[in-house]
Amino acid sequence: MNSAINARYTAILLLAIGMSLSLIGQAIAQNEPLGIFLTWKEDPTSSISIDWHLESDAHQTLHYRKKGEETWKGADCERADFPHTPRTIHRVFLNGLEPGTSYEIKFGEDQKVYYFNTMPADIAKEPIRIAIGGDSMHEQEWMENINRQVARFDPHFAVIGGDLAYANGDPKNIDRWYRWFDAVKNTLIKEDGRIIPLLVGIGNHEVQGGNFTKHDDFNFDDESRARIAPFYYSLFSWPNQPGYGVLDFGDYLSFFLLDSDHTNPVDGEQLEWFRREIAIRSDKSHIITLYHVPAYPSVRDFNGTIQTRVRELWLPIIEKAGGKLVFENHDHAYKRTYPIKNNEIHQDGIVFIGDGSWGTKPREIHDPESTWYLDNAKSVRAFTLVTIHGPAYHIISVDEDGNIIDSYPENPLIEK
Ligand SMILES: [Fe+2]
Repeated sequence: MNSAINARYTAILLLAIGMSLSLIGQAIAQNEPLGIFLTWKEDPTSSISIDWHLESDAHQTLHYRKKGEETWKGADCERADFPHTPRTIHRVFLNGLEPGTSYEIKFGEDQKVYYFNTMPADIAKEPIRIAIGGDSMHEQEWMENINRQVARFDPHFAVIGGDLAYANGDPKNIDRWYRWFDAVKNTLIKEDGRIIPLLVGIGNHEVQGGNFTKHDDFNFDDESRARIAPFYYSLFSWPNQPGYGVLDFGDYLSFFLLDSDHTNPVDGEQLEWFRREIAIRSDKSHIITLYHVPAYPSVRDFNGTIQTRVRELWLPIIEKAGGKLVFENHDHAYKRTYPIKNNEIHQDGIVFIGDGSWGTKPREIHDPESTWYLDNAKSVRAFTLVTIHGPAYHIISVDEDGNIIDSYPENPLIEK
């Protein structure tokens, strides 16, 4: 062969190799889930709810095994539409798991191995850590910055209290949901493959028009709720319908997620449910309640309608059950109140922490010096890390640069 033919032959060969590698790459990429999301809908010491999103609705098996075991087990998934997109949600619920145990998982033909941990059965011996905040994504980059700080503290799980992707229940904003799940996948899966489970509450930006009062044909039923908040009710297996719920972690923690007038009124059925369910848990070591609109706002008007309804209707119920920690959102700043009981500072009261500044543009705050209920407030992006150990709790709050901007109580061994 002369040199010209030789060069042409080499070019064709390289092109063929390149195309083959590209096809292999595409095949691998097609097998890899576009979104991965772990949450719980039953006791987190013995179960898990696993979602993964694919471009097609082809059947895919979840493979799982206890870490250290050789044999994989298969679990069939339910499939549901990711609304208004070509994507499909694949969902598996596993229960009967062992507490405080690592389980490896892999999705269909994708060979990458991830793992999750069930929650421990007993927190007297070892503490648990929960990362809590809200209002997660004005900008994907801001969300990922806080996510990275969250992951650095290696929490057992994280909670985002509404206003997740700022998509307003609108199919035109679907890209915001894609980016939200990208942010979770990019930054809430640890380098060693551990997936940090998430609990997500509802806020006004999950709902078309912000709340049910904007919809004349709203009937206070599952169909109406799913219609005005189509993504929230499809994308997350818990709390799902009716939009609020409680998770019991063994016998040491009950975590309530409530809907502050978005797809359920603060009063009515939700109020009766809350009154009943929190009362029967008043013997739990820890009760944490989270909702979106703050009773003690760091930015908005103290006398706003929802703020007042939450204070008057929900807080007496939490006080009566002995709850000491409430998480609030929506205001886009950091805040921690003094302990408050019966709307006054009281050493045996509830501490309210918030205020929804995970990935949002911080707003100007009320001056803590002249606002009777604010012990600490800052106009920054932040989340709060709650550590619970036996009957005691302690919180630190961390900004997007990793600075600890708050710590409470001074004596971390204050008991309930
Ligand atoms: Fe909000």
